[in-house]
Order: sequence, then structure tokens, then C-alpha cells
Amino acid sequence: MIYSILQSLDKDWSTDDTPHYWEGIVKDPENYATYKDVEHCLNNPQFFDLQFIDRVSNTFIPLPVHERCWSRPHMEQRDVVECWYDGHNVIINNFDQIDRRRQQIMQGVEETFPQIRASMHIYAGTRDCKSFKIHEDFANNFIIQVDGETHWRVYNNRASNIVGQVHEWSLTHDDLDCAIDVTMKPGDMLYIPARCYHHAQPSGKRLSVSIPMQHGYPHLKQRDRKWYEIV
Ligand SMILES: [Fe+2]
Repeated sequence: MIYSILQSLDKDWSTDDTPHYWEGIVKDPENYATYKDVEHCLNNPQFFDLQFIDRVSNTFIPLPVHERCWSRPHMEQRDVVECWYDGHNVIINNFDQIDRRRQQIMQGVEETFPQIRASMHIYAGTRDCKSFKIHEDFANNFIIQVDGETHWRVYNNRASNIVGQVHEWSLTHDDLDCAIDVTMKPGDMLYIPARCYHHAQPSGKRLSVSIPMQHGYPHLKQRDRKWYEIV
């Protein structure tokens, strides 16, 4: 599982925080996520933080959230599943909460890197879509390709932590120094350092897991990943 993979990486994190790509290093990618898991999440929008990105305009789709009796407000399953069948990109931001096994995977990540606060997100879709803009994120990130293919570019350039993020990224490939240019296939893993510019171009049906690791928030309590049996 992820703990042994992270322990085996040919990378010294104390001297090397460059982008990295490992081909076929994850032998069991379907243990991280499956389309059945995605189906479970789409059918239970009351439990998951779901977002859809329009495959043509590349903007968030504001699905209505309805007030409910005996439940927190949530989207309508029918709306969510229609977005999936229309081929829009789905992001599931709290996928690690799906079950005990995924919590154990995250426990392995957080035991390896006790400084960070991590999560497991899903990125999936069924059709070609407009590429995401070249951008950077505050979190360091591992990406695991579970199914299908996604073209990734990761650049050596980083935004400095002494500046905030711009509202509209406008950098192009020619403005930057490309470190990694790969089409990720099932079992491949990518490391994107914090604030490092990157770009994903998903194509066709694909499913990937993202493990963002936020640093610099030691005051935020780490999630309790243990499972407490009561019977
Ligand atoms: Fe990103």
C-alpha cells in the first residue's frame, strides 16, 4: 500500500523537493479508488464534497443545494449523475471519508509525513474536456492514475511563498521550464511540489486520485484515522 511505496521512493525529501514521476509504481491502483466508489459518492451527495467542472468552459457548475428534513443541505442525486453522464469533470474532495480502508491509506501518508495535513481527492470524468490552466497550488501533491490516461506537465518554476496566488493564471508552456511531460497510465504516480506550476489534460474516461498535503498548519488538528470497533 501507500506506506511501503512512500518508504521506498528514490528521493531524499530533506534535500530534494523537485517534481517527480514514477512509472507503474502503484501495483494495485484499484485499491485506492474505483468507478463503483465514484458511483457510491454520486449517489450520496449528502456525505461528500462534490464539485463538477464544465468540460467545455472549464468553470465550476453551480448545482443547486436543497434544504432537507433530517439531513444537512445537499445536491440532488439526479443533477449530480446527469453531470457525470454529460461528461463533466467530477472532483470529490473528501473521498478519504468513504471507508476504513481509505482512512488507513491516509494514515500511511500521515505517518510518513507527520508535518502535513492530508486528504484524498478524486478526479474523474468520461469524455475529453478542455484542459485545466497552468496553475499552482499551496499543497504538495501526489497523483495516482487509476484508470485511463491523463497528460501532465509539471514545471520547474514555482511561485514564491511570499506572494499570494493570482486570480487568473495566464502563463503558457513557453513561459516556463518544463520538468515533466508525461501521459500518465494506470499505476503511475506523480509528485507536484507546493506552488509548482502544473497542467493536466484529461482525455476520455479516466479516474485519478490526488493526495494533497497541506503544510504550515500545525495548529490544525490532524484527522483521527483510527477505526473504533464497538461490537
Ligand atoms: Fe492543481
